[in-house]
Amino acid sequence: MFTERIEGTTHIVVPQQHLTRSMFYNPRMELCRDIDVACLAAFIASAPSQSLRYVDALAGTGARGVRVAHEAGRLDVTINDHSTPAFELINRNIQVNGVENVATASHENANGLLHRKHYDIVDLDPFGSPVPYLDAACQSVKKLLLVTATDTAPLCGAHTGGLRNYGARPLNTEYHAEMGTRVLLGTVTRELARHDKAVKPLLSYAAAHFIRLIIQIERGAKKADTAVSRLGFIAHCFSCGHRVAFPCRDLLDLNVPDRCEICGHKLQIAGPLYSYTIKEPAFCERVHRELANRALGQQRDAMTILHTSIHELDIPFFFEHHALCKTLKIPPPTLTALIDELREHGFAASRTIFAATGIKTDARIDELLRILKQL
Ligand SMILES: C[S@@+](CC[C@H](N)C(=O)[O-])C[C@H]1O[C@@H](n2cnc3c(N)ncnc32)[C@H](O)[C@@H]1O
Ligand SMILES: [Zn+2]
Repeated sequence: MFTERIEGTTHIVVPQQHLTRSMFYNPRMELCRDIDVACLAAFIASAPSQSLRYVDALAGTGARGVRVAHEAGRLDVTINDHSTPAFELINRNIQVNGVENVATASHENANGLLHRKHYDIVDLDPFGSPVPYLDAACQSVKKLLLVTATDTAPLCGAHTGGLRNYGARPLNTEYHAEMGTRVLLGTVTRELARHDKAVKPLLSYAAAHFIRLIIQIERGAKKADTAVSRLGFIAHCFSCGHRVAFPCRDLLDLNVPDRCEICGHKLQIAGPLYSYTIKEPAFCERVHRELANRALGQQRDAMTILHTSIHELDIPFFFEHHALCKTLKIPPPTLTALIDELREHGFAASRTIFAATGIKTDARIDELLRILKQL
């Protein structure tokens, strides 16, 4: 039994019940697909003379790949899934939308396909962790890599498995969504570096149950070295809430204090994770404009993510406004009031895409609490 859904301007035939995992269609990922279409349109516009090859390597119903073929603009699209029912459904969705001239269904193991062929743009949208496909994807990709992870528990430190799967130790803090995003980005950075490629993150965000990275690829061993040097650690004090970031080389030089400079408690170390900027504001501006000019189901939420991202400070953690107010036993003032007050005191401050009540600032937690108390 099948039913039809409309996302953007694309009709998607989906199983009425999720008969098998391979025919899986997740309506909650519409937000992600809306943002992808806008990102790809913005990316294609920046390379107008080229015809780019895109692959949706783990396509399921083909919802993402067919939308890209139908809505994003001029691309040569491959939509792949190893499952036969999924492959048949992808073909049907290609026909329903009349994109046979630009999109081809493929019926292969994703790793085999990606090891065999180079694509300008590689999209990995697996169940759970993308790690089993990263080596092949990093070998294949030439210009743009899009990666989803839905195994947010190990990535964010809520379950064990961070070290096993991602070679990093996340900590379960109030900024865990950002920590998971940066741990994933760190893993991708190292994987690409093995292929003499470097990450240039264009947009990185986390929504309720997934993390999504949109990464431009730069080539060359030197650039890969620079990208790897952007990995770092975060030291967190679970006693007073102090947090501080430092580069990898400091840890290798044993140059990291193990006691909190505010309260003297032992610091916990998270990482390695990507500690440099995780977005490109000029690209995000173009994506924001693309979103504004389209009729999309999740347009408002998508535009909020892009708008916040453009203005977000490049600091690898944030504070939770309500948690701070709870510590002080005061009713929370508005976030805008706190941001203004921090700026008045000479600190940088912004919102964050990772939490509606999150605040980024270069103020230390003791300074932040002092300013908050005066408000
Ligand atoms: C999360 S679903 C894809 C959802 C889809 N991208 C969307 O936006 O709706 C993951 C898909 O990967 C497929 N898959 C899993 N392992 C694979 C492999 N090694 N090669 C090819 N496809 C695979 C599964 O059959 C499943 O359809
Ligand atoms: Zn402390």
